[in-house]
Amino acid sequence: MPDVAALSRRWLAVLLLCGVAPAGAAPPTFADVAPLLQARCVVCHSGAAASVGLRLDSLENLQRGSANGPVARPGDPAGSELVRRIRGDSQPRMPLTGPPYLSADEIALVEQWIAGGMAPAPAGSAEAPPPPPPRRPRPGEPVSYSDVAPIFAQRCVKCHTDGGIRGAPPEGLRLGTRADILRGGERMVVVPGVPAASDVVRRIKGQSRPRMPLDGPPFLTDEEIRLISDWIAQGATDDQGNRAPVPVGARVRFEGRLESRWRVDGLSLVVGPDTRIKKNPGPGDRVEVRGTVLPGGAIAVRRIRRR
Ligand code: HEC
Ligand code: HEC
Repeated sequence: MPDVAALSRRWLAVLLLCGVAPAGAAPPTFADVAPLLQARCVVCHSGAAASVGLRLDSLENLQRGSANGPVARPGDPAGSELVRRIRGDSQPRMPLTGPPYLSADEIALVEQWIAGGMAPAPAGSAEAPPPPPPRRPRPGEPVSYSDVAPIFAQRCVKCHTDGGIRGAPPEGLRLGTRADILRGGERMVVVPGVPAASDVVRRIKGQSRPRMPLDGPPFLTDEEIRLISDWIAQGATDDQGNRAPVPVGARVRFEGRLESRWRVDGLSLVVGPDTRIKKNPGPGDRVEVRGTVLPGGAIAVRRIRRR
């Protein structure tokens, strides 16, 4: 007579090795996985502009996969690109907004769901709530960070993050959080209160070149540009309405069209005896400005050069 207890122990060990939940615990269903995808992935993986065409907002879309093909193979977590991305076995690691990446428990949950055959949500279970439509404040209304964060996540973070699609963030500039955006990289790219002095705004309008996002067109819509511009004009506020301080003494660099001596696209510059003026720029010329932020957000020009 076979030793049933030993056999089932062996089976349990095999199942655990395969990443399957121990007998007794019901295998996870899509209802268990969906909230995680919703919270960490759909900001980029949904809608018409979904990254690599991969939409993770429903089971059908997940099964459909990306422009490169399927990303999850039922019963085969190790062979599933989705798992490889959240584990960091394939680069860039997901979510691209990380770190933080998914916790070990969260990764195990996804692996178990795939190992168990990618069960749909049980019939009658509550559908995972669809992501709330992005709030789009109208002109004149307050714009807070959470109104612009999805734009940065969808259009900028793929490059402007550690371990993005270009490796290190270009110019040291990370755009995944408000603190990162305000910190800037090699130089400051946001002057709270002064969108015209903020290279983030100049880049998305194409005044500073190359225009951002670098992989455009499509570039940002007029409404998205207005939202980011208004957010900065209102002080780059957090979600409690607190304005960011003006980074007095910080260095900035941007491009634009000189309208008169010394206005660039509507921004008056402070030019003094210490300013180096190169190649004799005149009205109508494209110029590059390097300067320092003064109290109140005005720009003291260190160098202005015709391009
Ligand atoms: C900030 C935007 C962003 C977030 C958040 C994000 N992704 Fe991605 N994802 C991308 C981009 C961009 C790519 C393409 C990267 C590349 O060039 O390989 C990608 C690629 C992938 C791929 C590879 C698809 C293929 O076939 O090549 C998978 C799988 C994936 N993401 C899953 C996820 C999962 C799961 C999450 C959440 C845990 C997530 N992503 C969160 C932007 C994001
Ligand atoms: C496909 C990759 C990619 C994407 C997407 C992208 N960028 Fe960039 N970004 C770059 C590269 C590369 C540079 C350096 C360009 C140069 O000046 O040669 C750069 C430079 C910048 C700079 C100038 C930084 C400085 O210190 O001079 C700003 C500001 C910027 N990007 C903002 C954005 C914003 C905002 C978005 C989204 C709307 C965005 N980028 C999307 C690759 C990207």
